Amino acid sequence: MIIVFLGPPGSGKGTQAKRLAQDMKLVHISTGDMLRDAVRNGTPLGLKAKEYMERGELVPDELIVAMIEEVLPQKGGVVLDGFPRTVAQAQALEGMLKNNDKDVSCVFLFDSDDEVIVERLSGRRSCPNCGAVYHVKYSPPKVDNLCDVCSTPLIQREDDREEVVRKRLEVYRNQTSPLVDFYREKNKLKVINAERSIEEVYADLKTAISNEC
Ligand code: AP5
Repeated sequence: MIIVFLGPPGSGKGTQAKRLAQDMKLVHISTGDMLRDAVRNGTPLGLKAKEYMERGELVPDELIVAMIEEVLPQKGGVVLDGFPRTVAQAQALEGMLKNNDKDVSCVFLFDSDDEVIVERLSGRRSCPNCGAVYHVKYSPPKVDNLCDVCSTPLIQREDDREEVVRKRLEVYRNQTSPLVDFYREKNKLKVINAERSIEEVYADLKTAISNEC
């Protein structure tokens, strides 16, 4: 199964992708997490990606496609979280899958209003060590500001500052939202109301996967 999660920043793609991958024994591929690792480790990709990410812009397609080409063929069932993000990336994905006699099974659009997103991103805290994600109100850690998994102090992502969030929303509207029609025309798009609670969104997702994918 090849599942794509599409949606604005902060709509909950990562939260749901981690859970779904664990539950359905799929591999979670998050381009955002891969890029943050590359930046942290100072790799050539990380050095190129850093400035785009800090400005809330997309990293160029050729870098992203090369990164995915390295990992995708080795995997079986996957949840793609944050990829593709442009029509060019979606076409490249089609080509990669076709070479392996595969196709995208389902695309889920996490639909959410800008105000909900700004509130979620301003309250998001992440573990710089293991990548676990929390929210000060909706998904708080057991001990204030410490990761439940590895007890590392939590941080706020640089690109969750309000001006960068607004830029990311604009980039989503201009460059990523055309994928909605791209996948709708292929009859693969399912819309999920991402404004409900984490539990409710997950329940909707599971129902849609068993009935429609
Ligand atoms: P990336 O890391 O992919 O960021 P994003 O898509 O903007 O998504 P986020 O991680 O911000 O949000 P999310 O939807 O995963 O929400 P989450 O579950 O964390 O990309 C970062 C950057 O990398 C990009 O700006 C770009 O520069 C670059 N990049 C990445 N991929 C690229 C690509 N393919 N091409 C080019 N460039 C690329 O939830 C958010 C918060 O809300 C959390 O605190 C969570 O606990 C909480 N929450 C989640 N669900 C709920 C709920 N239902 N109710 C209440 N709270 C909730």
